[in-house]
Amino acid sequence: MKIAVFAGDGIGPEVTTQAVRVLQALDLPGMELAYGDVGGMAYYKHGHPLPEATLETARACDAILFGAVGDFSCDHLERHLRPEQAILGLRAALSLFANLRPATTFPGLEHMSALRPEIAREIDLLIVRELNGDVYFGEKGIRTLDDGRRQGWDMMSYADDEVRRIAHVAFRAAQGRKGRLCSVDKANVLETFQLWRDVVIEVSSEYPDVALEHMYVDNAAMQLVRAPGAFDVVVTGNMFGDILSDQASMCVGSIGLLASASLGERQTEFGTFGLYEPIHGSAPDIAGQGKANPMATILSAAMMLRHSFGREAEAARIEAAVATTLRDGILGGDLGGTYGCEAVGQAVCERL
Ligand code: IPM
Ligand code: MG
Repeated sequence: MKIAVFAGDGIGPEVTTQAVRVLQALDLPGMELAYGDVGGMAYYKHGHPLPEATLETARACDAILFGAVGDFSCDHLERHLRPEQAILGLRAALSLFANLRPATTFPGLEHMSALRPEIAREIDLLIVRELNGDVYFGEKGIRTLDDGRRQGWDMMSYADDEVRRIAHVAFRAAQGRKGRLCSVDKANVLETFQLWRDVVIEVSSEYPDVALEHMYVDNAAMQLVRAPGAFDVVVTGNMFGDILSDQASMCVGSIGLLASASLGERQTEFGTFGLYEPIHGSAPDIAGQGKANPMATILSAAMMLRHSFGREAEAARIEAAVATTLRDGILGGDLGGTYGCEAVGQAVCERL
């Protein structure tokens, strides 16, 4: 079980340390860790946010545990040298096109939601976000028009095969859950998402057991706060998925609680090769203070055991330990508590 650990910037190192600690507490046979540099720290050390050596480490492993990237001191750099290029580069280079972002309210934490507790209680959804296409990876630039105005532009596109493969992932996920899939698009305005909708409908004929509905993204943003319990699986493009998953995190209570798995087609000895990361960023404002909530990264490690190593039992054990820790009131500052990063990690290990 070879795991690449890329901690990155800001709170990345703190939260990954706790997730590694939880993995080690399971005492799994044959677990090996390989560390690598990513993000702003990699830029300062090697002159690039995603050094070739890091990519090689990633390719030599079965899974990647990723912390966070982002550093304001890099804002002036050319785009290809900015910290974010590390995660975007890994997603692209390793063809990790399917991003699973579950959002479920933890019992006892309903009052932390930005929504009323009786609404928050119902949340149990999975966002399936396409991760290799959309406006994120189109041509882009800042150009000067003939009349002297500067114009920023980013090309948005999806090819049918890109939509088809993420649709299959989402339909299969819905089959394993409550059998409902909501495809979120903007087909009323964007051609990219008209094609998206057409292809999702084509694919749906192969999944008669899944109830498919379509929703415009603005409406989806509204429904996510009005009645989030009505969603089961949501499938959407890269950009809308980025936005809706942050929104979903505050419906659950904190962005420090949401994990993610980024999967492609490559199979390893035990499952699917994947990258696992919290959905939050590097949080430079609290970095190095030991205050960050490691739960999202710990839950990402659980997803890793499930998807890349076929260890469902251990994944469920971690998730149960996290739920118990939260129920016991061992909470970080993001959840109104006073426990630090290490104390939360320690509490999860004890409950394992
Ligand atoms: C995320 C993040 C990234 C994204 C950034 C860091 C590039 O916000 O994983 O949601 O936009 O995908
Ligand atoms: Mg995001």
